[in-house]
Amino acid sequence: MNTVVTEGAPAPAAPVVEGLPFTSPWLLAPMEGVTAPSFRDIVLARHAPTDLGGAFTEFVRVIDRPVAKREMHKHLGTRRFQIPVGIQLMGSDLECLIGSASNAADLGVPVLDLNFGCPARGALKGCAGAAALKDPAGVEASVRAAVQGVGGRTPVTAKIRAGFDHDRDVEALARAAEAGGAAMLTIHCRTRREGYQEEVYWSRIRRAVEAVSIPVAGNGSAWLHSDLERMRVETGCAFVMVGRGALRDPWIFSGREVSRSEAAAFLHEYAQVLESLGAPRRAAVGRVKQLLQYWEAGGLVGDAQGRERWLRDSDTEGFLARLEAAAAPALS
Ligand SMILES: Cc1cc2nc3c(=O)[nH]c(=O)nc-3n(C[C@H](O)[C@H](O)[C@H](O)COP(=O)(O)O)c2cc1C
Repeated sequence: MNTVVTEGAPAPAAPVVEGLPFTSPWLLAPMEGVTAPSFRDIVLARHAPTDLGGAFTEFVRVIDRPVAKREMHKHLGTRRFQIPVGIQLMGSDLECLIGSASNAADLGVPVLDLNFGCPARGALKGCAGAAALKDPAGVEASVRAAVQGVGGRTPVTAKIRAGFDHDRDVEALARAAEAGGAAMLTIHCRTRREGYQEEVYWSRIRRAVEAVSIPVAGNGSAWLHSDLERMRVETGCAFVMVGRGALRDPWIFSGREVSRSEAAAFLHEYAQVLESLGAPRRAAVGRVKQLLQYWEAGGLVGDAQGRERWLRDSDTEGFLARLEAAAAPALS
């Protein structure tokens, strides 16, 4: 197994772009309910920093006070790798953003990302999310606040969608992030209205690249290892951020084809880690099934029927025993 784990404070690996900590052009996207340390660390432990260049926490809401350092700790986890993990914040209260950014910089996070693309409504009181996509000046002000908060200690990056219900403001949004002082812009090339529709327009990534001089990370339907370089070539983006493609195959960053047992060992470890963190066994299996909806690595699920067999298995113990049996060759 290609394990690159460093506990404590690892020596930083060489960045690919000056001013940013990322060690390869391929980045793991922030995903709420997925990229907590429980999942993220298993992915990081299986990659060299030359394959996977960086990862992010799931979004942390900034509501009516600065996010406390202990809350940030929870999202960052305790293990450290040569691959940098940035914290992602989402909020629109400028004073709270300044305070949160300052706390993040005090903790020494390698990068601070701001989320301007979350499609959830209502429940996210006080949070910017996708609403900011209608307001480039608000994006600029939020980025500027975070930049002020970190005080030159941590690069601030911004993650947007291509727009709210149309894509006409791609350039304005990208320029707003740059004007606010972002060191990198990630663009998820779907609008909020497009949700997670299959059809994507990578041309919107190219438009963002052409609108700004900061590095751009392209994002949206990079499902295969070969899509990573293809997106860079087709759009000119410096980085590619992968979301669900990493749930389909966590080894997408290296392109390594793993065996069935290695794939099963990943999922088995995930269930164990979740349980060790206090998740009831049934809930841990539920989280594994969340991955299995996408999973292709190692040919573990087989055809559609095979996937259904995994997903519909309501016998928690039996499910885990089957996973352990599949993982056995890799565990021994
Ligand atoms: C389950 C899930 C949770 C997500 N949570 C976040 C989040 O916390 N912050 C964020 O910026 N984007 C979030 N996203 C969006 C992803 O980061 C990414 O932009 C999106 O999935 C498109 O990339 P993909 O086509 O490679 O999946 C989430 C996506 C999914 C599927």
